[in-house]
Amino acid sequence: MPPHTPQLSGNGTRPDGRLRGRGALVIGGASGIGATGARRLAAEGAAVVVADLDETGAARVAKEITAEGGTALHRRIDVTDPDSVARVVSEAAALHGGLRIAVNSAGVNGPLSPLAELPPADFDTVLRVNLYGVFHAMRCQLPAMTATGGVIINLASIAAHAGFRGHAAYAAAKQGVLALTRTAAREYADHGIRVLSVSPGVVDTPMVSALPPGATDDLLAAVPLRRTAQPSEVAAFIAFLASDDASYLTGSDHVVDGGYLAK
Ligand SMILES: NC(=O)c1ccc[n+]([C@@H]2O[C@H](COP(=O)([O-])OP(=O)(O)OC[C@H]3O[C@@H](n4cnc5c(N)ncnc54)[C@H](O)[C@@H]3O)[C@@H](O)[C@H]2O)c1
Repeated sequence: MPPHTPQLSGNGTRPDGRLRGRGALVIGGASGIGATGARRLAAEGAAVVVADLDETGAARVAKEITAEGGTALHRRIDVTDPDSVARVVSEAAALHGGLRIAVNSAGVNGPLSPLAELPPADFDTVLRVNLYGVFHAMRCQLPAMTATGGVIINLASIAAHAGFRGHAAYAAAKQGVLALTRTAAREYADHGIRVLSVSPGVVDTPMVSALPPGATDDLLAAVPLRRTAQPSEVAAFIAFLASDDASYLTGSDHVVDGGYLAK
């Protein structure tokens, strides 16, 4: 474990926690930030639908949550398919007294390539998951929340704020996520819906471990805290944003980057 990494806190479920009784949907919940976020929301009392293209992984996370005394079930979802998204969101909205929290964490890296060598099909694939996927999700989540109010938290990235070699499609998609977040926050504030994004730096998840060796070395060398983030450090922030403790936040993006973007 890198220096100064905080110990992960216990995952004991608190049915009296600050998210008690709230229905939550975590898309991309089978792995990484989504999986840890789902566990954290459940530990704070939310009833969580864990949805992912990887149905087996989503089932495993839901099972872990229930084994800890939390409330969860899993669903298969493909964020590139609007019908699949509509089905899962409407199911989540019918459970646990409505949909109050949505976390849109599904994402892919795509192949790393200089822009001029990036095949249009690869650009398309990344945009379909990382940008259209968030659009399809919000298009269903917003109307599902208009009666009760709620919070939508989209996963963006520091790649939306700074240039990284090889990440043209990924960065373009994440900038788009910031735009969707800001726009929806203005449009739906009157319905009691807050819309936010989180821009992590390098987080220790399967997405990062799948990168070629050394791919994040330059970036990490410029992180003042001198280490990657643990998924739990992003999940803790997601739980805060989802809670009434963040009641005056909407439309904003929040970097969780160990100081990388500090100027
Ligand atoms: N890990 C990082 O360093 C980092 C940094 C900045 C932003 N992010 C963003 O955070 C989010 C989560 O990343 P992670 O590191 O936890 O990645 P991860 O690879 O661990 O998890 C991503 C999940 O998305 C799912 N997914 C992929 N395509 C899907 C689809 N079409 N439909 C439904 N689910 C699909 C995968 O099955 C996987 O479970 C992503 O949006 C990512 O871009 C990650």
